[in-house]
Amino acid sequence: MSFQAQKTFFIETFGCQMNFHDSEKVAGSLVSQGYRQVEAAEDADLILYNTCSIRDKAEQKVFHRLADFKRLQKEGKKFAVIGCVAQQEGERIFERAPHVSLVAGSSSYRSLPQLLVQIEQGERATGLNDRETSQTFETEFTARTNPHRGYITIIEGCDKFCAYCVVPYTRGRERSRTSQSVLEEARRIADSGLTEIQLLGQNVNSYCDPLSRASFAELLAEVGQVPGIRRVRFTTSHPRHFTRDIVEAIDTVPSLCDHVHLPVQSGSSQVLQAMQREYTREQYLERIAWIRAARHRSIAITTDIIVGFPGETESDFEQTMALLDEVQFDGIFSFKYSPRPNTPALAMENAIPEEEKTARLAALNEKQREIQRPNYARHVGEILEAMVEGYHPARGQVAGRSSQNKPVNFTVPEGSPPPVPGSYVPVRVTRAFPNSLVGELATDGGVEPGKRLAEAPGPCSRI
Ligand code: 5AD
Ligand code: SF4
Repeated sequence: MSFQAQKTFFIETFGCQMNFHDSEKVAGSLVSQGYRQVEAAEDADLILYNTCSIRDKAEQKVFHRLADFKRLQKEGKKFAVIGCVAQQEGERIFERAPHVSLVAGSSSYRSLPQLLVQIEQGERATGLNDRETSQTFETEFTARTNPHRGYITIIEGCDKFCAYCVVPYTRGRERSRTSQSVLEEARRIADSGLTEIQLLGQNVNSYCDPLSRASFAELLAEVGQVPGIRRVRFTTSHPRHFTRDIVEAIDTVPSLCDHVHLPVQSGSSQVLQAMQREYTREQYLERIAWIRAARHRSIAITTDIIVGFPGETESDFEQTMALLDEVQFDGIFSFKYSPRPNTPALAMENAIPEEEKTARLAALNEKQREIQRPNYARHVGEILEAMVEGYHPARGQVAGRSSQNKPVNFTVPEGSPPPVPGSYVPVRVTRAFPNSLVGELATDGGVEPGKRLAEAPGPCSRI
């Protein structure tokens, strides 16, 4: 195929890290079909939107984008809507946006080569019927777009059916990859020069190797021992399936990061029951106690919270506020409940008025901000190991990230070049904001590849 004749594509991604990683795999699959990726919709023959339907706002974004770019259809460009909105809305998308030629949910990405042939022939194509598959989407080539972090899907789909959530309907049932294939991918990532891995799944704690029956904690420990891998993260955990051996793995395998994201959703056992979360406030707090009891590590804990779930009383909400005080999270992602199609919560009575949801969200975020002030300030005086992510010349600051996943912006001695992205350096923390740390390079050299700061003074050691 000549360069001119090569078909081009542009992909825009909405939503979670699973979606971003799916886009990397879709891009890999398209490249292996002879397409070339471009950076602007205007330059592409095929424009793909990988969509999110977790909340209504996210869902609306793709329809706005389709309306904005409809004019490009005249130039012969084709449009594809893939991901969760595609799965949820199906062929209705063709009615709402007739210029779309492909609608495919994430479980159908394996069939992309055939679907592409169909649309190239001028037909419309849909890939919507594979949600019950036991197969996972594996590609020979993944177009990794994050220059520092390699994502690996370990489990697809979700069987939890939380009352508010569309994911089980859009991503289908849970299916785990074999640990052999996960480890092979981890080794390939290490060979490509990346040193950080993030394991992905809607509910990683339910992971179970279909062949060896290895658990998530076992897989995590193994990935952490892949030569060349310095940091391993994972998301998302579900409290019901979060086990003590995960904490033990973090406590003993140096490359596993000091961070657990454990969505609680509400501090009220009554609301948790209505949400069908399968744990109580007390059981959640028990898991927090396990994490806090790690002997060698200071593990940061972040969470997701939904306010204004149907029937959430003022007293339920107060319990969520009190939970923040009790746990002292290192960070929260907070959302107003958004009614979603197909979910049981849609039919629930006692909807909370929008203004009340807004007021609760603001109160929650205000409280968390106050909690994060001392939480972040505690790091002042520590030497942290930061992975370098970039450099802001205007501010003269290097952007990095700690093992606890906290942003660390730091300066280097005058005249020294900033450390290269992807390297690990010790940073002395001098100031703290509620959402970021500020510091200075602690030595004039970096930490050697393959050697953690933990082996020197300790990742969170006070000086
Ligand atoms: N409304 C608001 N937030 C939601 N989430 C999932 N579904 C909804 C919904 N219908 C939030 C949960 C979840 C995060 C990814 O998105 O907190 O953990
Ligand atoms: Fe949605 Fe619950 Fe599954 Fe998370 S565990 S993806 S919130 S259904």
